[in-house]
Amino acid sequence: MTLILGLNAFHADSSAALIRDGNIIAAVEEERFKRVKHYAGFPVKSITWCLEEAGISLGEIDHLAINTLPSANRFRRYAYTILNLPSPLFLLDKIKNKRERTNIKKLIEKYFGKEAFKGELHFIEHHLSHMASAFYPSDFKDAAVVSIDGFGDFASCAVGQGNDTDLIAYQRIFFPHSLGVFYTSITQFLGFPNYGDEYKVMGLAPYGEPCFLEEMKDIVKLNHDGTFKLNLKYFRHSNQRLAHQWSHGAPFVDRHYSEKLCNLLGSPRKKEEELTDQHKNIAASAQRMYEIAFFNFLNAAYLKVKEDKVCLAGGCAANSVANGKITRFTNFKEVFVQAAAGDAGGALGSALMVWHKLYNQRSKPMNSASLGCSNKLDDIDKILLNSSARLKDKNIKLISYSLGDNQLKDENEFLQFIVDEILEGSVIGWFQGRMEWGPRALGNRSILCDPRRIDMKDILNKKIKFRESFRPFAPSVLQEHVKDWFILESELDVNVPFMMKVYPLKTLKRKLVPAVCHVDGTARLQTVNEKNNGIYYRLIQKFYESTNVPMLVNTSFNENEPIVRTLEEAYDCFIRTKMDLLVVDNMIIKKSL
Ligand SMILES: [Fe+2]
Repeated sequence: MTLILGLNAFHADSSAALIRDGNIIAAVEEERFKRVKHYAGFPVKSITWCLEEAGISLGEIDHLAINTLPSANRFRRYAYTILNLPSPLFLLDKIKNKRERTNIKKLIEKYFGKEAFKGELHFIEHHLSHMASAFYPSDFKDAAVVSIDGFGDFASCAVGQGNDTDLIAYQRIFFPHSLGVFYTSITQFLGFPNYGDEYKVMGLAPYGEPCFLEEMKDIVKLNHDGTFKLNLKYFRHSNQRLAHQWSHGAPFVDRHYSEKLCNLLGSPRKKEEELTDQHKNIAASAQRMYEIAFFNFLNAAYLKVKEDKVCLAGGCAANSVANGKITRFTNFKEVFVQAAAGDAGGALGSALMVWHKLYNQRSKPMNSASLGCSNKLDDIDKILLNSSARLKDKNIKLISYSLGDNQLKDENEFLQFIVDEILEGSVIGWFQGRMEWGPRALGNRSILCDPRRIDMKDILNKKIKFRESFRPFAPSVLQEHVKDWFILESELDVNVPFMMKVYPLKTLKRKLVPAVCHVDGTARLQTVNEKNNGIYYRLIQKFYESTNVPMLVNTSFNENEPIVRTLEEAYDCFIRTKMDLLVVDNMIIKKSL
């Protein structure tokens, strides 16, 4: 038996993943334990939990893999330094950064003891880790593999090819040119300063027109070979020391754009300032520019690799709008994006890279993201008992029902009870099995409600989510009905288990599901089947039997925090917010009037 532990430790979304004989046993992000979104720091709790889940100690781990190779692209780094002579502080920062990365052994010793780890340590280059996290969990035997990112190990993108157990990278795009940095800069310019806010620009874009496209083309210059260059006068990252925070807390990055971007696009928006048409148009133009550069890059990758299938990873692979258009604007016919496409996924990728390099045996495809923590369900009685004073304080009365009770004799009645609540407009907290790996709730730690109600988005925002009103909610859709509801370019592209692609809804269907239909008629799709989603599939099917609508609104179980991990956190969110019903495994807890 071979045990490999993979880590993402020096980027945002630090994480750990454990594989046994090539199969994924456990994978989790540190933010879920620390309760800090995108937590960046050594993933001590994630490592500890992965080991507990497998019932092993760190001493039994054969290989420890990390998704960085500090010596990677060394000559590129030297050449850049000689040619560009950046400031001494900038260089000091880079040296400090590199030193931290090579000190992993010391960190392991610090947190787990001197003799705790006896195995072999592997540094896997950042983009190779991303690529491995995308290709090996796919069910493709051969595919083009693309990593598209901010930065990691002095590069921002890589293209390569996966053939069964082999994975190689052909080409990289190096610092300081990065589509991730471009998108982050525009995100910051539009008044969204937090790490990971890029999805807000993606959600805002359909409200605008791409009338700043010419300006964007001056910012991102495309080459005929599929590569691109940033016009560096609009950025600060290439030669200035930007303040940053990559450890012990929420990640923070300083302003990336320069004053020249303000000359080009006007005044940057302040965080609380109202969103104007100008802001919406800038968002639309940035999204369009990203897509043009992305498809240019992918089309060149297709010509090089000559495979119909592509696997994507890296921070930019979270751009689900662009992902949904790949089969329309490139020659690729099938696209796979793993559940944790961003840096968290590097933990899994680095571990899988080591496995395939050393043991040459293909791992099983990832069909489900249910790889995180589960809970002892008998804890619920204790939680209910301990909360009586709080309930009294908030004047909340609860009624609970269990599968097997007189009124809920079997699963059919249990699910019908929940569906009836949904039909009446209730918002359901749905807590089942193991927590999802990756940023999306996929039916294990989800909040569910009726997609047919035009007021559902407002209800969700008022009761629980308090999100910007322009951001859409996503549907979980029964896989066999997807073709009837969505416009798909490729019939092969119908499997989207990890909610990583946005597709247009068919015109006549749009008005039937206003709560999940974005302003441009699209929805971010999650396909659900019985094999991988069990009771969640059967719940949606029950809703379909009553409504002829094969989908539910699915948003993450949280309120401006990382997705809930434990039963206590779920219950706390249920009581704290105006959620109507909490379903935990086979138990229903309802707030009564
Ligand atoms: Fe990355």
